[in-house]
Amino acid sequence: MSMRQSQDYIELENQYGAHNYHPLPVVLSKGEGVFVWDVEGKMYFDFLAAYSAVNQGHCHPRILDALHSQSQRITLTSRAFHNDQLGPFEKYITELLGFDRVLPMNTGVEGGETAIKLARKWGYTVKGIPANQAKVVFATGNFWGRTIAAISSSQDPDSYGDFGPFVPGFEVVPYNDLEALDKIFQDGHVAAFMVEPIQGEAGVIVPDDGYLAGVRALCSKYNVLWIADEVQTGLGRTGKMLCCDHAGVKPDILVLGKALGGGVFPVSAVLTSHEVMNVLHPGQHGSTFGGNPLACAVAMSALQVLVDEKLAENAEALGEVFRTRLRDIHSPVISAVRGKGLLNAIDILPFGDGKTAYDVCMALKQNGLLAKQTHTHTIRFAPPLTITLEQINAAADIIASTIEAVTK
Ligand SMILES: Cc1ncc(COP(=O)(O)O)c(C=O)c1O
Repeated sequence: MSMRQSQDYIELENQYGAHNYHPLPVVLSKGEGVFVWDVEGKMYFDFLAAYSAVNQGHCHPRILDALHSQSQRITLTSRAFHNDQLGPFEKYITELLGFDRVLPMNTGVEGGETAIKLARKWGYTVKGIPANQAKVVFATGNFWGRTIAAISSSQDPDSYGDFGPFVPGFEVVPYNDLEALDKIFQDGHVAAFMVEPIQGEAGVIVPDDGYLAGVRALCSKYNVLWIADEVQTGLGRTGKMLCCDHAGVKPDILVLGKALGGGVFPVSAVLTSHEVMNVLHPGQHGSTFGGNPLACAVAMSALQVLVDEKLAENAEALGEVFRTRLRDIHSPVISAVRGKGLLNAIDILPFGDGKTAYDVCMALKQNGLLAKQTHTHTIRFAPPLTITLEQINAAADIIASTIEAVTK
């Protein structure tokens, strides 16, 4: 059977795959920089960048070089043995980001789990919380993955519905609310507060200026570990290497993922101090693939590309241009434009005969730009950070003309 059309591939997925996603009906077979191509050969701007995992652009030649050359030497050793890529990667990432130690894992959600395990153990062995009483606090609207632990802190019924019972010891406070945080921290059993500096999946929710500095101050005051989940916001996405850098504050535990793998390989990492990391001893945490030489070579290269190509600086500058262009769109259905760097979103009021952000995304696809709605009314725009001024203006032209046309 020859299968050349998108519909053939979509039908295969429909017939043989789990229906746990609702993708836009486009089948991609090639990517380069900020562009992707479908199987019919149509080219699109990629304004999702795999949920910010492709910050360095599709198939970046330097990252692919690292992948290819390492894959011809050795790819997987397990941590039963040392390998010659892990140590250099650990030195590079800790020095680059200013932490004492790092623990590499694979996916973002494993990074979050690792951070929580570290915090609980620190809570018992350093802070002195009585056995099995440790609490970890999250913010409303949090999203950190799909494991049982991750959905145990979720308030989205799609995420947690029918998957209980849930992990105990998790509490939720309103996001962007320092008073609520102050109140809950008075409970001496709180080991950690885990929060995204900008909430990505919730719809690019940017907290007030001063929130992150306030979180830092309260965590220090109450001896609570601040876990910053920068899986989506980190690595240049918001216009600084870390989103926390905008506020000039440093978390106790940093979780990275997505773009750490340069869009080619799952790599996540948890960075922290000697004091916190040293609570872990052999046999207490690990992963067969975590810290494998292929992942380390790719991650090292992914970080060097961010630094050498000044991608955070590019995101900062072009983010300003892009938001100005979004604010200039003449459409009564755009109710909000927000974001930082190249993590941006618009809210779309329902229009026409019950149309929503999904219909805008379909029209954008028609016109050569891929973006995905989140929570019915929001469209996130997060292109690779390698995008140029000319390209971002061309993409903004498509977005403006599409929205003005479909909502006329
Ligand atoms: C902030 C944040 N944390 C964690 C995750 C989970 O990452 P992964 O899907 O690689 O497990 C995500 C994924 O979207 C995320 O946005």
